[in-house]
Amino acid sequence: MDDPFRIVGKAVDARNTYGLPLAVLAELTHRCPLQCGYCSNPIQLEQASREMTTEQWCSAMTQMADLGVLQIHFSGGEPTVRKDLEQLVQHASDVGLYSNLITSGVMMTRDRMFRLADAGLSHVQVSIQGATGQMSDLIGGFKNALPKKHDTATWTLEAGLALTVNAVVHRQNLPELPQIIEKAVEWGAARLEVANVQYYGWALKNRQALMPTFAQLEDTTNIVNEARARLKGILEIDYVIPDYYAARPKQCMGGWGRQFFNISPSGHVLPCHAAETITELRFDSLKERTLEWIWHNSDAMNCFRGTDWMPEPCKSCAFKEIDFGGCRCQAYALAKDASATDPACAKSPLHEAIFRTAMAESIASEDDFIYRNFANARADS
Ligand code: FES
Repeated sequence: MDDPFRIVGKAVDARNTYGLPLAVLAELTHRCPLQCGYCSNPIQLEQASREMTTEQWCSAMTQMADLGVLQIHFSGGEPTVRKDLEQLVQHASDVGLYSNLITSGVMMTRDRMFRLADAGLSHVQVSIQGATGQMSDLIGGFKNALPKKHDTATWTLEAGLALTVNAVVHRQNLPELPQIIEKAVEWGAARLEVANVQYYGWALKNRQALMPTFAQLEDTTNIVNEARARLKGILEIDYVIPDYYAARPKQCMGGWGRQFFNISPSGHVLPCHAAETITELRFDSLKERTLEWIWHNSDAMNCFRGTDWMPEPCKSCAFKEIDFGGCRCQAYALAKDASATDPACAKSPLHEAIFRTAMAESIASEDDFIYRNFANARADS
């Protein structure tokens, strides 16, 4: 019988290092009408023919509920591309999962929003790429997206669902941040996420065109703080600063394999949405294994659980059970070693160099980026 708590090549006791998974990001598809260059999807996008079927997703949701999962976030790509979305939301509701739809909002209809609400959807998160039509179309690579997003936000509220607006911000759209905040208020959102780009997948490829300047970062913090005070009780604003300018690493995913997992369109179970960028790891699929087996036994899930895997300076760091060593995907992207100290941490030997890279790239005049789409993915392979 397999040792249920092993990692590649050595046995470890991971029993006390993680609990039950609370939330799942279900990437139903990598198909998407938008082509944002900051997407964290892997460069090699999954073809539609490899996506899980309705039955496979429903089985996965039943297993999630049995395992103790409370929330499912339907994402992608663009989840409304899937014609069976209503069935999937209905099944989530039937097995007792709270469901959130993460959407670009450009493919929604009023009827469909009401069908999704009837099926048990609780919350909708609409992305915004800019406050003006020109910025929105440029960043998303999609014409006239903004009015469609506004309609989706309106229908969300009409259907009685909670609304969050998500703005991924970067050097090119940060000048529009004050207007983005006003749009979120105008659209009736209860919450706005202002999230600086995290550089994995397509975003890493386009880093030069996206990295904010240090002055922009300071302005952003001031704008967010002023808006938080002014809009207290009207709009809650979550704010994520760029890792490259941080002194401490983020507690990514609440710790690797501790309380969260992601399912890729083809059914691979990942500790985070960007984990497939760590090309040396092999991920188990729901097409071959049960979710419970994967959660407890998958090598990829176990390899960075707990603190035993940590090198110095993480191993003797007082924060090691607070930030769990930061982000493994970022360590791999920047140090080429997923077990290295996250270079976002000031204790990493690479921290200084990363900060200098960010400063240099942010003032470069490189504004062109590669759109995230299947043709560019093929060209990269
Ligand atoms: Fe993968 Fe941070 S995004 S561990």
